[in-house]
Amino acid sequence: MATISRAAPIGARLAVRCGFVAAVILAPLACGESSPTRPSPQEIASGKQIFRFDTYGDEKFWTDTLHMNTVIQNNVDPTTAFAVGLKVDADTLPAAVLQAIQAGQVDLHSPATTVLLLKLGAVVGVKATVDSNNNITRLGITCALCHSTVDNRIAPGIGSRLDGWPNRDLNPGAIIALSPALSAAQRAVYNSWGAGKYDPRFNFDGQNGPTVIPPAYGLAGIHSVTFTGDGQQVAYWNQYVAVTQMHGLGSFSDPRLGINIVQSPDSVAPKLPALQAYQLSLAAPAPPAGSFDATAAARGKQIFDGQGKCSTCHAGPTFTDANERLHQLSEIPTDSAYALRTATKMWRTSPLRGVWQHPPYFHDGSAATLLDVVNRYDSAKGLSLSDQQKADLVQYLLSL
Ligand code: HEC
Ligand code: HEC
Repeated sequence: MATISRAAPIGARLAVRCGFVAAVILAPLACGESSPTRPSPQEIASGKQIFRFDTYGDEKFWTDTLHMNTVIQNNVDPTTAFAVGLKVDADTLPAAVLQAIQAGQVDLHSPATTVLLLKLGAVVGVKATVDSNNNITRLGITCALCHSTVDNRIAPGIGSRLDGWPNRDLNPGAIIALSPALSAAQRAVYNSWGAGKYDPRFNFDGQNGPTVIPPAYGLAGIHSVTFTGDGQQVAYWNQYVAVTQMHGLGSFSDPRLGINIVQSPDSVAPKLPALQAYQLSLAAPAPPAGSFDATAAARGKQIFDGQGKCSTCHAGPTFTDANERLHQLSEIPTDSAYALRTATKMWRTSPLRGVWQHPPYFHDGSAATLLDVVNRYDSAKGLSLSDQQKADLVQYLLSL
């Protein structure tokens, strides 16, 4: 308990940087004027709007530099859009359009349909301005592009939004690769990533090693974000991505990464507190009824806490020791290359709530199933688990 120094209090405002212990025991003394306050419902609601719809002015990049507006206008019919994992928010569509889609009366092989869906604001994570001649004049992206999906209640790819769920169907590399502004070498890298993966460092270090898109839910109380714990709160990474990846008009600097981007006015920073409040309000989804065997899961818990030694790192209600420590690369049976490109060069124990929801596993998606994960630990750590024990452990993981 002595080493909780990386922590900021639950629901903390951006400016708060006092320890959890200090916040609980000594607040407001130790935390000064910015004592932790629970975000108001209004702040969370405003964060939701930002998460879903704010581009931070990144149209400058996606339109003026990549010309994605023209690419989509001319070449991307809905069938292509669904194939690269774009999702449609059914709740945004007028009833007549929804009925036409369900009746098969909408041409899913015409880019004009994509333009219509964009005009209606129904493409999750993509924001477009469409003029009266149905030309896309401006196009930008939002956080929801990668960190939301839909429940497919109307058709595959069309449904109600599920914010915080990683869109593992999305192929960001294939989408970016459509841009005419890239060199052949760049295009080859983008096309190599595949669905559900993105490399948020390639444009700085030129190395190619994407990670899976992680969930943005289940992060409340975890004061260490990204696979490598680069930041102490969600807002650190939100600012990184908004400025350096989405190319929003804002500032980000981290001397550990040698990055110092200053843009004025800053249309990212003022939105970070609400954006963070919204993400921290997103609970990990409970496992669907009947999706695991409760008796086997109870046996699996014994292995998780005992012979498997899992809970030495996946500890507490969020199943991570992230608030206490990061781990040496040699402790974890995954490839180190990505971590070596980050600020900490260490691994943060991944939180496991909702882990049933987002295969493949590990930062690089190198374990297709939870059984693959268990097998990896079993051989790397010499756990000598029987097949039955492994199966029980998997059932327990499915129950989290
Ligand atoms: C192009 C896809 C993409 C977009 C757009 C994107 N992210 Fe991410 N996000 C990622 C990837 C990939 C990672 C994993 C990087 C890592 O951990 O090193 C990540 C990591 C995160 C994490 C860390 C999760 C954890 O377990 O610590 C959070 C939170 C997050 N993103 C929120 C956001 C928000 C908010 C926005 C909008 C400002 C955003 N992301 C935009 C792809 C994206
Ligand atoms: C030494 C600390 C440590 C131990 C022990 C440990 N883990 Fe992990 N676990 C981690 C870290 C760190 C990661 C992230 C590694 C990566 O993504 O490359 C992780 C990732 C995972 C993931 C993937 C999560 C995701 O979102 O993709 C699962 C599942 C998991 N561990 C389960 C277990 C099980 C089951 C055990 C016991 C057999 C175990 N872990 C033991 C630290 C540990």
